[in-house]
Amino acid sequence: MARSALLNVMVDAARKAGRSLTRDFGEVENLQVSHKGPADFVSAADRKAEQIVREELAKARPTWGFLGEEGGATEGSDPSHRWIVDPLDGTTNFLHGIPIFAVSIALERNGQLVAGVIYNPVMDELYVAERGSGAFMNDRRLRVAARHDLKACVIGTGIPFIGHGDHPLFMRRMGAVMGEVAGIRRCGAAAIDLAWVASGRLDGFWEQPLNPWDMAAGIVLIREAGGFVSDLDGRDRIFETGGIVAGNENVHRRLHALLAGA
Ligand code: IPD
Ligand code: CA
Ligand code: CA
Repeated sequence: MARSALLNVMVDAARKAGRSLTRDFGEVENLQVSHKGPADFVSAADRKAEQIVREELAKARPTWGFLGEEGGATEGSDPSHRWIVDPLDGTTNFLHGIPIFAVSIALERNGQLVAGVIYNPVMDELYVAERGSGAFMNDRRLRVAARHDLKACVIGTGIPFIGHGDHPLFMRRMGAVMGEVAGIRRCGAAAIDLAWVASGRLDGFWEQPLNPWDMAAGIVLIREAGGFVSDLDGRDRIFETGGIVAGNENVHRRLHALLAGA
């Protein structure tokens, strides 16, 4: 697969941040046994990864804006382009030594998501997509899973946690879905969940609330892999509502109907 210059910039930034995260992930195990735990160390690793991504992207495209989870928004002198970056998605996993986390980088052009890269450095899985050019994992073309019957589907989600999200609403939605599917998974990294929908490992996914940096690259990947993505009202206001539901056309429709009725 021949990558565009733009995608190469994104991939280089994701790999460089990924190397830094992998080094720090090795340290996390040693810190588990200390009384204080690795929390401060992980925050520093997270900020360092964002700094690496920011610098790499700015070197190649100095005038473009940047929205990162750690450092917030920086306006660029070119108002038509904005990077949307989560330097470490799956922080709780990382903190607990669970090797499911990723760097997520998306590009928005004139308000439309046009490119996405998600890199899981431990599994060395690199997911890339550019609008109109398809989605790939380590150069293999991706398609969403073809399963139509919800009974055979494995669906990903995110479970709200202490101080975060609407717990009763989640329980109603979970109740509506779990009796209809083969299984539900909670991987702990929304970017990876979405990449796994694009690659067909998961048949579908829903979560609310999420932030734009959790979802932006994954949305491009799923659309380029032939999947459907919307907010929980079935519309395109994903960033505004913080809710997302995804799958192939049929799974997306069925999942959306179950969630809407809950
Ligand atoms: C989190 C992960 C998680 C999701 C949370 C997100 P972070 O991102 O994507 O799967 O359930 O809502 O905040 O904090 O690890 O970057
Ligand atoms: Ca995140
Ligand atoms: Ca994060």
